[in-house]
Amino acid sequence: MVKPAGKQSYGRLVFASFLALLALGLVADFLWASSHRFSSSAMISLPSSVTTKLPPSSNEKDSPKKDNARERKLSATFQDLPAPQLHWEKMAPSPVPRLDGAAIQIRNFLYVFAGYGNINLVHSHVDVYNFLDNTWGGRFDMPKEMAHSHLGMVTDGRYIYIVTGQYGPQCRGPTAKTFVLDTDTNTWSDFIPLPVPRYAPATQLWRGRLHVMGGSKENRHTPGLEHWSIAVKDGKTLEKEWRSEIPIPRGGPHRFVFFVDSCIILNFLSEDWLCSCECRACVVVDDKLFVLGGQEGDFMAKPGSPIFKCSRRLEVLLLFYETFCVCVCVLTLYLGWFKVVFSDVYMLDEEMKWKVMPSMPKPDSHIEFAWKVVNNSIVIVGGTTEKHPETKKMVLVGEIFQFNLNTMKWYVIGKLPYRVKTTLVGYWDGQLYFTSGQRDKGPDDPGPRKVIAEMWRTKLILNP
Ligand SMILES: *[C@@H]1O[C@H](CO)[C@@H](O)[C@H](O)[C@H]1NC(C)=O
Repeated sequence: MVKPAGKQSYGRLVFASFLALLALGLVADFLWASSHRFSSSAMISLPSSVTTKLPPSSNEKDSPKKDNARERKLSATFQDLPAPQLHWEKMAPSPVPRLDGAAIQIRNFLYVFAGYGNINLVHSHVDVYNFLDNTWGGRFDMPKEMAHSHLGMVTDGRYIYIVTGQYGPQCRGPTAKTFVLDTDTNTWSDFIPLPVPRYAPATQLWRGRLHVMGGSKENRHTPGLEHWSIAVKDGKTLEKEWRSEIPIPRGGPHRFVFFVDSCIILNFLSEDWLCSCECRACVVVDDKLFVLGGQEGDFMAKPGSPIFKCSRRLEVLLLFYETFCVCVCVLTLYLGWFKVVFSDVYMLDEEMKWKVMPSMPKPDSHIEFAWKVVNNSIVIVGGTTEKHPETKKMVLVGEIFQFNLNTMKWYVIGKLPYRVKTTLVGYWDGQLYFTSGQRDKGPDDPGPRKVIAEMWRTKLILNP
């Protein structure tokens, strides 16, 4: 870590600031209702030195009253976009509910991997959906050492490359271990581990090379901007080690607009500081590599927790010995800017330069496996967008987006049965399918609630 000069002189100031910030943080927490189902209990857990008990957040009993008051100002659903109604058909549900799983479609099969069943339970198997007879079956186990969520994954049509990801439940760290699945035989083999572990990296095959980029570092939070590649053929590597490639872009208007009040100064003083992590979708179409949406910031493991309990507020403790500047940033995180969701889109082209593309219709994150390329259009199902500015609650996305690569234009092409994030998406015979993820609380409440196993399909209608 690069520490800014003159750090020592800030020592006392840091301590005083820490206390002040902690107090402010508590106040902020009253204002800041829970935004994440899984984290609602984690968020109210306090450092042991602080005995103040906070009222439970995210209590649905209280919310109708509060919501009524808020609606007059800004509806909880204000970020829903006008979208065509679609006819949705409910199909057989997946054998288990999953959040943050991964999926790969090969011909008429949708392979659905891993994911959380709940915050304390992760799946370590693959379920397979057959689009020909619309049934689930063919369950088989994953290698014991393979990550369970936030995986990087891509296929060449037979072999599936599974790169790093988070190992275990709660907010455990990532593993660098990497595997290959041969879907003709359902057999696994080991692959060269990534140089360092990454959490939710964008992964694609491009010009005979497996590309892995972004994601966040071992603490789940610091962004990894690195980009590696390795030559592969038929599930095997042709090289001895990963090669470093052009880093993924950061900065750009969307990012820094959010940082103007808080982090831009910190970036100036302390180069290693960033409030960020990347959960982007990465797509290769027509020999161009796209990186879409994503977010900065995610839940971290509580320091010293034997179960790596998910937590955000305890970052204060982690950063206590850091500079005054970092504490300022922690304050801004408390005030709800912790997660910044992007709508920006970049394309890496033949010249190996990142180009900025038209932005998504709204910021969208948690879409790593929620897309499909059909007729030269990228189709994206659901996700999460920016937090509600007043309630600071997470807002899920209830639309389907199309990015037409012929015209480089975005469209909102339909409404989902409900808002939902981390969907796993397939396409077969004119029908768009999605399964898994976490759905909203209801038509009037876009916050996340239930982890689902449901499978839905609708006829896909694209803008030419
Ligand atoms: C894709 O293109 C084919 C050929 O033009 C067309 O028949 C089909 O309807 C298109 N699919 C979608 C979903 O638009």
